[in-house]
Order: sequence, then C-alpha cells, then structure tokens
Amino acid sequence: MQLSVSTRAAAAGVVAVITLLAGGPLADAASAPPRTAAAPDIPVANVKAHLSQLQSIANANGGNRAHGRPGYKASLDYVKAKLDAAGFTTSVQQFTASGRTGYNLIADWPGGDPGRVLMAGAHLDGVSSGPGINDNGSGSAAVLETALAVSRAQLRPVKHLRFAWWGAEELGLVGSRYYVGRLSATDRAGIDGYLNFDMIASPNPGYFVYDDDPVIEKTFKDHFAGLGVPTEIETEGDGRSDHASFKSAGVPVGGLFTGASRTMTTAQATKWGGTAGRAFDRCYHSSCDTTANINDTALNRNSDAIAHAVWALSG
Ligand code: TRP
Ligand code: ZN
Repeated sequence: MQLSVSTRAAAAGVVAVITLLAGGPLADAASAPPRTAAAPDIPVANVKAHLSQLQSIANANGGNRAHGRPGYKASLDYVKAKLDAAGFTTSVQQFTASGRTGYNLIADWPGGDPGRVLMAGAHLDGVSSGPGINDNGSGSAAVLETALAVSRAQLRPVKHLRFAWWGAEELGLVGSRYYVGRLSATDRAGIDGYLNFDMIASPNPGYFVYDDDPVIEKTFKDHFAGLGVPTEIETEGDGRSDHASFKSAGVPVGGLFTGASRTMTTAQATKWGGTAGRAFDRCYHSSCDTTANINDTALNRNSDAIAHAVWALSG
C-alpha cells in the first residue's frame, strides 16, 4: 500500500504512543533515530544515455563542449529540458569569461526548508581539445540522473534540494565563483552543504572521497565501506574544482573523484583491481575523453553514492 507522507507520519506517531504505553520490545525501535527512506539504485544505463547525448552534442559542435562554444550551450539545453520535464524550477545564470558568454544551470526541487539547503553540482563544460565525457560529462550525467530520481520518488526532504551545473570550470572555477559571489549573506549561510562531482568514471578508477566536511565525508565513506569498496582521501588537486568556490565562502563541502593524470600505484591496483603504473585517466583533457573513456563500474557505484548522500543528508 502507498501511504501519503502525512498518513505515514501519523501512523508512526501511533506506533510510538502504543510502544511507550506498552514498554514492550518495540521500545528500542521507537527510540532509534528517525529513518529516511533508502535512496533508490540509480540506473547506470540512464546515466550512460546522458553521456551518449553529450558525446553526440560534441560530435555535432566541433568535437567539444567548451565554454563559449556551441557545444556548451547545447549541453546545458539538454540537461535543462530533462529537469523542466521532471518538475524542477530551473534558472540559467549568465556571466562573461574570456570575452564569451557562459552559463550556470540551477535546478530547485520545490519544497523543503529554504534556510537549510543541500546542493549537489558538477561542471558541465569541457576543455576545447575533446568531448569531455569523463571530465565532466560523468559528474554532470550522474547529478542529472540523481535529480531525476528525486522527481521519480517525489522526495519530500526536510531540506531544500538544489542541483547545479557550472560553466567555465576549466577556465578557473569561473561559473561556481560567480554563483557564490552573487549569493546574499543570508542565502550563503542557508547552504548546509555542497556536494561536488568532477570526474567520477575514470577508465582506471580510484575511489577518492574529499577530505572536507566530516559529516559529508563519513556519509560517502560508510556507503562504500558497506559495499566492500575501499576508498582513499582525494589528494590529486584539492581546490581544483567547484567545491573550492563554496569552501572559500564557508560552506561545508564534500565530493567524489576517480582520478585524473596521476598514476595508479601497485597498492591501489591491488585493492581496486586496476592497472598499476597507468594514469587513472590517460585521456584527461584530451581528444580521447569520449564515451569509450568511461569505467561503467565506477560510474554505477558513484551514481548510487551520490543518490545515497542526497537522500541521507537532506533528511
Ligand atoms: N576539473 C579538474 C581539473 O581540470 C579535474 C581535477 C583534477 C579534479 N584534480 C581534481 C577534480 C581533484 C576534483 C578533485 O583540474
Ligand atoms: Zn573537471
């Protein structure tokens, strides 16, 4: 049976009262912390379908999706259309960088406490030398599919959920800095956390968790530990993605990363089953960063981890 949220809450209240009166074996369950519905499994086929669309967009626009090029705006239009159809309130924020117009896409899920906002984001631009499917079609597609899963579940979290796709990250975090810089002090203080996903399906993947806000970090680490997947702290480039814009403004941040040009060690290859002595992503910022440059297992695990964090941290 499908109970409405309010019916379910009322039913839970009845159970709690009965348990208190009876003092029976249910007393432990009643004193346990409130349970949020578990996050759904994110269908990796859907995430891959988004990546195919981003690849087609690059193919049709000179081979890239870079800031100021037509492939960037086409990428943004693709993501925005999916979110609009799913019931998000979207807005496109324009800025100028290197003499060209850039865009951020912001998608708000209606409801939740506007004074307690949980954000998840990814940069949608790539470099001009290739289609940018791992960097950062992967984060963009996984955040998109997580947002669509929020809509399918008609999630009613305590916090307000906001998803973002940043422009001009590759020019130096320009879009996210612009967004954070234009927030009022109140709005900035109302952001409880920002989760960043930049490169999450590297072909020789590591499982790296940002070592920033301890609650966010633990949420990801516990999720992977539950799957038996070892993680390491991200060290390849602290401050090299859009979470830095939020961290500088005092917002708690976290995120996931599967590695860029750094080489996988023997110890890492042993625990993750990859190739030692090879870069995590040999196609980083190059023309071979195509749909062939994606590790499906990493994409699947990290997409599920994003959904888990969004569900768990939004209450
Ligand atoms: N987009 C980032 C860049 O081009 C990729 C990157 C490198 C990264 N190191 C990172 C992303 C560490 C997250 C965390 O520099
Ligand atoms: Zn990137």
